[in-house]
Amino acid sequence: MITRIEERLEEYKAEIDEAMILEIQQAAQKILSGELVGFPTETVYGLGANALDADAVMKIYAAKGRPSDNPLIIHVCDIEMAESVVELNWRARFLMDIFWPGPLSLVLKARETVPKVTRGGLETAAVRMPDNAIALELVRMAGVPIAAPSANRSGRPSPTDALTVKEDIGDAVSIVIDGGPTKVGLESTVLDVSGEFPVLLRPGGISKEEIEKALHIEVLLPFDGEAIKRSPGTRYRHYAPKIPLVLTDGSCSSLVDGKKWAWIGISEPEHSPHVKIIFRDVEEYAKELFRVLRVIEKSGAEIIVAQIPDETGIGRALKDRLVRASGI
Ligand code: TXA
Ligand code: MG
Repeated sequence: MITRIEERLEEYKAEIDEAMILEIQQAAQKILSGELVGFPTETVYGLGANALDADAVMKIYAAKGRPSDNPLIIHVCDIEMAESVVELNWRARFLMDIFWPGPLSLVLKARETVPKVTRGGLETAAVRMPDNAIALELVRMAGVPIAAPSANRSGRPSPTDALTVKEDIGDAVSIVIDGGPTKVGLESTVLDVSGEFPVLLRPGGISKEEIEKALHIEVLLPFDGEAIKRSPGTRYRHYAPKIPLVLTDGSCSSLVDGKKWAWIGISEPEHSPHVKIIFRDVEEYAKELFRVLRVIEKSGAEIIVAQIPDETGIGRALKDRLVRASGI
C-alpha cells in the first residue's frame, strides 16, 4: 500500500526546480555549520537551526528575543527521524499516519539526544513533519532534525512570506528561502499525546474535530493554569499588531470612538471604516490574518475591529490568535 507520506513525497519532487535545490543545499550547509536559516512551511515561515546543536538553538532564542523556557517544535522529514528525537506510542503513530505531512505537532517524551535548550527544559518535545516540499527537502539534505519557531520577533504576528521574515529578523539569518506565501497561514496544532488522554495545547491547522474523528475519543482542552505549565508558549502575548485590536460579534460603533478604524471579517461592518477587508470564508480569514495585520498597521488606521469567527474547524485557531492579538 502506498502511504499518504509516500504519495506526497512524489508530488513534492515536481514542486522544486534545480535552482531551488541549490539554494536548499546551501541552506542545509548553514544548518550543519550551526547557523540559522529562514524557510517556508505550509503554516508560517520558520527560523531553523540544528535541533541537536545546543549552541545553534541558543541563537534562535537570541534572534527572536524569545524567553528560554518556551520550547521549540522539531521538524522532521520522516517518521524514523521523529523516532530519533521522541519516544513514539501507538496513538502518535496512528495520528502521523493520518495527518503527516501536515500542520500537527505532537508532544511526546523526548530522548536524551535532544538538548534541554531545544525543549525549554521540559521532559517532552514537540515534533512535526511539515507539508511543504522545501521544508522537507531542507531537513532531508541537512540529515538532522531542525528546531524552528515562527520566524518573527517574539510577540509579533508570524510571517507568512519571505519578505516579512527579512524585515523582522533579517540580520540574524544568512539565508531566507523564498517559497511564496504560505498555504495555511496559522501555525500548527500542538497536541500532547504523551499521556493517557490527548490534550490540545494550541489550536491550529488541523482541527480538534478532525483529530477526534480519527481517534474516536474526545480531545481535552487544558485548564488555564495547566496550559501554561504544559506549554509555556501560551503564557506570552502573541501576534500583537502595533495598533490595538478589538473583537466584536456585532455592532462596532462604540468600540472605535471617533478613531480611524480598520475592519476585518467575513461580513460587512455596520458603519463605514477607514480600511475594510472582507474575507470569502473562515479559511481565507485564517490564511490572510497575519499578513493583513501587518498591512493595516502601515495604513494609518488607529484601531482594528475584528469579527469573531465561529469556533468550528480552523475557526477555533483563528479565534485563539485574534484573542491573543487583542491582548485580552
Ligand atoms: O506551524 C508551526 O508550528 C510553526 C512552523 C514554523 O512550523 N512553528 C511555530 O513555532 O509556531 P512556535 O515556536 O512559534 O510555537 C511552538 C509552540 C509554543 O506554543 C510552544 O510552547 C509549544 O509549541 N511547544 C513546543 N514544545 C513543546 C513541548 N515539549 N510541550 C508543550 N508545548 C510545546
Ligand atoms: Mg510563534
